Amino acid sequence: MIEFKHITKRFVRDRTPIFALRDVDLTIQKGEIFGIIGESGAGKSTLLRLINGLEHPTQGTVKVDGVSLGGMSKADLRQLRLRTGMIFQHFQLIQSRNVADNIAFALKAAGVKRADFPERIRELVSLVGLEGFETNFPSQLSGGQKQRVGIARALANNPTVLLCDEATSALDPVTTLQILELLKDLNERLGLTIVLITHEIDVVKQICHRVAVMSQGEVVEVASTYDLFSQAKHPVTQHYVDTALQIELPERILQATPGKIIRLQFTGEKTGESTLSEAIRRYDISVSILHGKVDYIQDVAFGVLIVSLTGSSDQIALALDWLATELHALEVIQDVA
Ligand SMILES: Nc1ncnc2c1ncn2[C@@H]1O[C@H](COP(=O)(O)OP(=O)(O)O)[C@@H](O)[C@H]1O
Ligand SMILES: [Mg+2]
Repeated sequence: MIEFKHITKRFVRDRTPIFALRDVDLTIQKGEIFGIIGESGAGKSTLLRLINGLEHPTQGTVKVDGVSLGGMSKADLRQLRLRTGMIFQHFQLIQSRNVADNIAFALKAAGVKRADFPERIRELVSLVGLEGFETNFPSQLSGGQKQRVGIARALANNPTVLLCDEATSALDPVTTLQILELLKDLNERLGLTIVLITHEIDVVKQICHRVAVMSQGEVVEVASTYDLFSQAKHPVTQHYVDTALQIELPERILQATPGKIIRLQFTGEKTGESTLSEAIRRYDISVSILHGKVDYIQDVAFGVLIVSLTGSSDQIALALDWLATELHALEVIQDVA
């Protein structure tokens, strides 16, 4: 368990104080994939670096498994760092060493006996799916493969916590998904606690169990990923959710479509389509789907549809009233008689 209590972090640059963190209270549970999302400069990296003692709070306490970092000796802090793996946006591999030697470097730092290196390297290479690439140099690897080496190295000392600082931000969307799948798999197989910082809501959506939203040094909202999407409270959170659900109907289509056009948002076991079918059964209306996007967050459907409703105005009014009670959100975006 990682606990931040009343954390303030102040830097001074050109004699001007910068508050990177303002009164942050946060608890991250063991075994959880915890996301921290926020704009550039929000304080995410600073918060992450407090977990392994690379940064110290100006005020407040950080505890890992009940022990305050402030009271730790240098030797204890070193042990803590070894139990805490970290991966980065730009991988930070040693360019002059091949995959196996990059991993060996981390094993050496962790104090693993040299005789155990080959066996451990084999295990780690297989864990991250890099069999056959042991003698490749970083320049001969794709971005995704480089990050796999980064992960293997971070896991060299069997850490209990993995800190990921924008670990997929330099990768294309497909590779990002593959790396996120690997992280999810490691979380499940090794019980690894993962703290992942990102500025992309899609990353959060893919793998995080819970999320903290940061803005200007403050944690403005903490929620399960599902709740974050279904009932965002803070405007900053709302903005991220809107970005994830953004769908726009081309103006040309809007103009060419008569009747009422509504944008509906649904969440939960009931999909938008099933609710619409029921509306068609209950009321004398026709529905056509113009656009839609459905996502699954922790196996629960969550999505947005743009549909046009046609029929008598009475029936449409009744149907809209009913839909408004059944759906997560509903908005009339065009109403042409
Ligand atoms: N070592 C430092 N010295 C001075 N200012 C810093 C230092 N590290 C971070 N900051 C400042 O603290 C704020 C938060 O930075 P950071 O934690 O890196 O944000 P994020 O990771 O969300 O982009 C920024 O304004 C940044 O410029
Ligand atoms: Mg950062």
